[in-house]
Amino acid sequence: MTKYFIDLVYLAASFLFILGLKGLSSPEKARRGILYAEVGMFLAVVGTLLHKDIISYEWILAGMLLGSAIGVPMALFMPMTAMPQRIALSHAFGALAAALVGVAKYYHYAPNIPPYIMAALAFEVLFGALTFTGSLMAFGKLQELITGIPIVYKGQNVMNISLFGIAAVIGIYLVMNPANSVLFVTLFVISLVLGVLFILPIGGADMPTVISLLNSYAGLAGAATGFVLHNNVLIIAGALDGTSGFLLSVIMCKAMNRSFANVIFGAFGQVAAPTPEAAVKQQATVRSGSPADAAKIFKDAKSVIVVPGYGMAVAQAQHVVRELAELMEKNGTTVKYAIHPVAGRMPGHMNVLLAEANVPYDQLLDMDDINPEFEHTDVSLVIGANDVVNPAAKTDPSSPIYGMPILDVEKSKTVIVLKRSMNPGFAGIDNALFIQPNTLMVFGDAKGTLSKISEEIKKL
Ligand code: TAP
Repeated sequence: MTKYFIDLVYLAASFLFILGLKGLSSPEKARRGILYAEVGMFLAVVGTLLHKDIISYEWILAGMLLGSAIGVPMALFMPMTAMPQRIALSHAFGALAAALVGVAKYYHYAPNIPPYIMAALAFEVLFGALTFTGSLMAFGKLQELITGIPIVYKGQNVMNISLFGIAAVIGIYLVMNPANSVLFVTLFVISLVLGVLFILPIGGADMPTVISLLNSYAGLAGAATGFVLHNNVLIIAGALDGTSGFLLSVIMCKAMNRSFANVIFGAFGQVAAPTPEAAVKQQATVRSGSPADAAKIFKDAKSVIVVPGYGMAVAQAQHVVRELAELMEKNGTTVKYAIHPVAGRMPGHMNVLLAEANVPYDQLLDMDDINPEFEHTDVSLVIGANDVVNPAAKTDPSSPIYGMPILDVEKSKTVIVLKRSMNPGFAGIDNALFIQPNTLMVFGDAKGTLSKISEEIKKL
């Protein structure tokens, strides 16, 4: 009877997980989606706690308290800009849990382990351990505890792929000879090492894509754990996590016009800094102005498109952006926001920040919808965005971002760019937009500059 009840609860939880994912596909429904997923997770935990195999609740309670003691402060105190590394840490913990369950179950079943269970165990340990160390490396790179510059050496890819091949062969051998515990431990150790080696050549800025891929691995390890434990909700949740994480990585690669292999093996982010001569030449042609100059232009504008990028997140300028937009709207100006799919450093980065500042959802337009509007727009206000507005993506076949779809800001009558210097963005390349005759650069921290522009508009 309890078994049927648990299965029913698991079914409801799985349904809620799917509704949760569906909700996350639009900023409007995202909060509701998260609520569905939370209720689903609560049901999954309750269902599992009713399981007949549980002999004592003490250790479970201790685990719950320890997990909450780590998770609650993380959720409360880690800033939004640190979200990618926070997610990396969560994956590390999830993957470690899957790998440890695999180790415990191996010794529980050994030496007579049915082949399908051994196959799931090997998979779980390989992907769980690899994701654990890989996610810790990703966390370290994003938190700048270790260098974000790709660490490359000769024969690296051949060595990594060979090591993965050896791990896979050991896994297959174990399916036929599960009693060989030395090989099982070897598989665990190789997997831990693989996680570190796979992440070494990947640049810090590519970490969000890699984290999404590691998320997918953690999900697959979780699904394998579900097979070992005969737990249906774990199989379903792991499969959902595995596929959605993989699809998200593919979507991110597409939006950057990069291949999957280029992200994982390309050591992107090693681009050389511009020569001093090139920097001087570029500086000479730049037209820069003060917040007061920008304020005058906004005062006369009938239409403005705000283009946020990573710099807005760094400056935490989302609230002052909304205040400036409201000021302009009072003045009769139409304000819209152009959201590039890979602006910032994580999927939905700009949407989350602007939603936090209560910018109405209907003012946020995706790239395909907003691009035709730039040519009819008076002012494009680029806030800490660089690569996603770089025309080289359309005009320069030798550029590393050539082919990446970008926001056509250069077509608007005037472009006002807020950033601190002429330094490049994530891709490490110059941006011809900054030296266009219709571009006005206003240098400084985006938050401070936006506040000054608002003050100046009020004075006009
Ligand atoms: P970026 O090209 O990285 O440019 C950000 C700009 O913000 C920099 O040029 C920087 O210039 C400026 N900035 C930094 N701090 C600032 C501050 N406090 N005030 C004002 N400006 C500031 O950003 P983007 O245009 O958003 O493009 C995102 C890049 O990340 C793309 O290349 C994309 O492919 C990559 N990427 C994105 C994702 C996702 S999912 N979003 C994942 C992986 C990679 P200064 O230093 O001169 O101020």
